[in-house]
Amino acid sequence: MENTYLSGIADYEDQEATFNGWVYNTRSVGKIWFLILRDGTGMTQCVVTRDNTTDDIFNLEKTLTQESSVSVTGVVKKEPRSVGGHEMLVKNIVVHQVAEKYPITPKEHGTSFLMDHRHLWIRSKKQHAILKIRHQVVKACRNFLDNNGFILIDAPIFTANACEGTSNLFAVDYFERSAYLTQSGQLYSEATAASFGKVYCFGPTFRAEKSKTRRHLTEFWMVEPEMAYYNLDDNMNLAEQFVEYIVQSCLKYCQPELKTLERDISKLENIKVPFPRITYDEAAKTLEDQGSDFAYGSDFGGTDETIISDQYDKPVMVHHWPAEVKAFYMKRDAENDNLALGLDMLAPEGYGEIIGGGQREDDLATLESRIKEHDLDMKDFGWYLDLRKYGSVPHSGFGLGIERTVAWITGIKHIRETIPFPRTIYRLDP
Ligand code: 4AD
Ligand code: MG
Repeated sequence: MENTYLSGIADYEDQEATFNGWVYNTRSVGKIWFLILRDGTGMTQCVVTRDNTTDDIFNLEKTLTQESSVSVTGVVKKEPRSVGGHEMLVKNIVVHQVAEKYPITPKEHGTSFLMDHRHLWIRSKKQHAILKIRHQVVKACRNFLDNNGFILIDAPIFTANACEGTSNLFAVDYFERSAYLTQSGQLYSEATAASFGKVYCFGPTFRAEKSKTRRHLTEFWMVEPEMAYYNLDDNMNLAEQFVEYIVQSCLKYCQPELKTLERDISKLENIKVPFPRITYDEAAKTLEDQGSDFAYGSDFGGTDETIISDQYDKPVMVHHWPAEVKAFYMKRDAENDNLALGLDMLAPEGYGEIIGGGQREDDLATLESRIKEHDLDMKDFGWYLDLRKYGSVPHSGFGLGIERTVAWITGIKHIRETIPFPRTIYRLDP
């Protein structure tokens, strides 16, 4: 088949070309009709007149339904007023399949209907734009890390270790024993960082989140850099550069998509280092001042996060957390053993926590006692403790949630539209 794409239509100006795609819609004005063709890379208007085509082709106007698959041949003309800046004067149309009545029409549909038809919904303009930005976010994450000396070393999905607490684990039968779907690749990245220095893992992670919020999925993607010889400050420096790079790449490469989504890009243009850094105590003080009923010592809920992030027009990093709300592996502050060297980055505009991380406990005896305090099974952590026996070093890392980052950059309220096929407590299909 001929593989020409509408994204490159300008190369065919005043020439004949064939484009394969789907019928976005058709519109008739008497002796002429228009077919808007989309092929995944772009859209163009195809003009069908009696003069240029046979009767059979001209009469296709009555047969071609929305989403019918076609190959259209014609001469490409510059037409600034047309979608994509060009149009095609049609000579021939090959019909591959006339689509059945398409369930998604331009009228309003409820989200649950659209989610039931997610496999088709992803063809629509807005969803298409979101997923293209997701692609750019992933590409930017990888480019940044690859260009800064990080080695990609992926972590397993089946694991015996609870990294982020035992309350939201997905257990699966694993032959004679039980295993969990990974909550985070971090523990493995700590091992690989001791082999490669600076590493990252990137993959799906799983949490049996029973909460039905617009920020939680049960399956989400996380990119997790881990660095030997990095302390909390080094970690924060990296996190802010990383996020600046991701946002600026989207601005550079995704202008049409951001426009489709009507995103206020001035808010994104402003995302440049340095980002504000505040301690948990300072964040708690803000909540108190703003009249929140938040209890000092607890984790921030969604509303609290929004109150904090609303104080800034950039992402804000909250560090030095009460140790009780953080995971067993967090290193404590040398000056105050009640504080963990954790770091959360909250996105602006109420998009919540996009990064969680911190400096890791590197002392063997301390780590052993934390594992006990957290009621975790020591035998599952033998290999992890080895890392503190054989050349233990200060080290840090973090995990950035891809979907929350995409939600923020695209300005989409609900995280479920930022992943091709979302998994939530009530959704396993499509
Ligand atoms: O803060 P979390 O739980 O941190 C970790 O898992 C660390 N082990 C990562 C590390 O240090 N290598 O999760 C990290 C990020 C959150 O900030 C959030 O962006 C995202 O993962 N996240 C979720 N995204 C969607 N749905 C959920 N249920 C999420 N839970 C966490
Ligand atoms: Mg977190």
